[in-house]
This record gives sequence, C-alpha cells and structure tokens, in this order.
Amino acid sequence: MASPRLLAVSDLHVRHPENRALVDGLRPGSPDDWLLVAGDVAERVGDVAATLATLRERFATVVWVPGNHELWTRTKDPVALRGEHRYRHLVDVCRQLGVLTPEDPFPTWTGPGGPAVVAPLFLLYDYSFLPDGTSTSAEGLAAAYRAGVVCTDEYLLHPDPWPDRAAWCAARVAAAEQRLAGCDLPTVLVNHWPLTRLPTRVLRRPEFALWCGTTRTADWHVRFRAAAVVYGHLHIPRVTWEDGVRFVEVSLGYPREWRPRGLPDPLPHVVLPAR
Ligand SMILES: [Fe+2]
Ligand SMILES: [Fe+2]
Repeated sequence: MASPRLLAVSDLHVRHPENRALVDGLRPGSPDDWLLVAGDVAERVGDVAATLATLRERFATVVWVPGNHELWTRTKDPVALRGEHRYRHLVDVCRQLGVLTPEDPFPTWTGPGGPAVVAPLFLLYDYSFLPDGTSTSAEGLAAAYRAGVVCTDEYLLHPDPWPDRAAWCAARVAAAEQRLAGCDLPTVLVNHWPLTRLPTRVLRRPEFALWCGTTRTADWHVRFRAAAVVYGHLHIPRVTWEDGVRFVEVSLGYPREWRPRGLPDPLPHVVLPAR
C-alpha cells in the first residue's frame, strides 16, 4: 500500500476539453492522499462544482482556494453574482461538497512530512508588484495600459462591495495574517497568486505582475514557518527557493501551453513528504 501524500494542482481550466479529460484521469496513489486545488478550476460555478465533486469522491480531503477565473462574472454563467458575493457562494458550494476553503478552520496534515497546518488563503492582489521604472500603482497601471498588457480581471473580476480590488486584498491579507499568527506548527501556505515577487520575474510581459500578488506577504513564508508555499496563476510550473523555503507553482495551464512543453511531472505535484 502506497503511503499518503499531500498533493497539489491548480489552473485546471476545465473549459478546455483536453484539460477536463486530464482531470477525469486524476487518481490518488493512496486512499489517504489529500489534494490542494489552488484556483482557476473554471469560470462557471457549475463547472467548478462538478470538478470539485469528482475530485472529492476520489481524494480523502480536497482543499480549494479561488483563482481569478472563478471570480469572473460572465454573461454566459447563470450565476450572476459579483465579487465577495460570488466568492461566498462558491464557499457554500464547497461546503455542500465537503471541500475545504479559506473560510474553514485550517486542517492539519499528519501524514508523511507532517505535521503541518494547511492554510488555504484567498489574498488577491493590490497592484504593488510594480513594473520597473514605476513607483506607484497608478504609474504601474498606466505603464501596463501603454504596453497593451491589461488583465481581463479589470473587466470581469468585480470587487463588490469593496471600493476596489486593492481594498478587498487588504482586508483579506489582514484577516489571514491574524489567523496564521495563531498557528504553532509549520505551515503549508496555499494561495492562487504567488506570495512573493520573485516568481513573477520570469513573466514574458513583466507588466502582468501587477495582477499577480501583493508585497504585503513578502515575508510570510518565514514568519509563518512554511514547510512549502503552493501557488498557481502564472501557468509556469516550477519550484523556486527563498530563505530555504520551497515555493511550488502547481499549474496545469491551457492546452496550448502544456502541449509544447509537456505535462507537469508529476501531475499533481507532491508537496509532502518533501523529496
Ligand atoms: Fe490560470
Ligand atoms: Fe489565475
């Protein structure tokens, strides 16, 4: 019998039939494997629910955090909720499925490589990952618009009832910080967007970093004793190290991205035990 593992994947984007087929083929190696799903499952709530339901039937524990795509409000989706209301609805859907979210008590992984508190986070971004040569969010955004780099979130990810996405991010960061301060064990930090700036340095369009995180979390991997940091969003699956902590980008990405480079190996990524 294989020993249990803490696994992670993100950016399944199941709207693409090839990705959906890959998800249909995902199986645990042990009945006690956990799966972390780090956002961008799909845009439509129905697709998110169906995918998480399938995974929940197979894995002992499934933990989900939202990506920007789940938070998009599109006319094609019968669920027209926006912003925080959309997020809370997705949390309710997860609760019905028995899938854990950032709104639940943090579970503790006690299998090989543990114990570690698994902390699903929804932190968003606040335009503080500035393009070189700019010193404020306004300057950064102006440079991005000039370069023709504008994330679709600007049109589809609404911050309601917050005044803007940066204010929503600030509230999320403050609440998560308080909860993490109460953890004594090592942590596995799970967020759709990277927690530090470093992973964004390889973006083909550097201006896109504005939509990729917040400088407020730059030291969280040290402060909260991270055994690993799990994120996605960049669609650049890889492992980087900062201050001796492993940062893992666990995305699948779009078929046009993974076809030429090959699928992430292994899929899903093994977070614990560390190899
Ligand atoms: Fe994505
Ligand atoms: Fe994303």
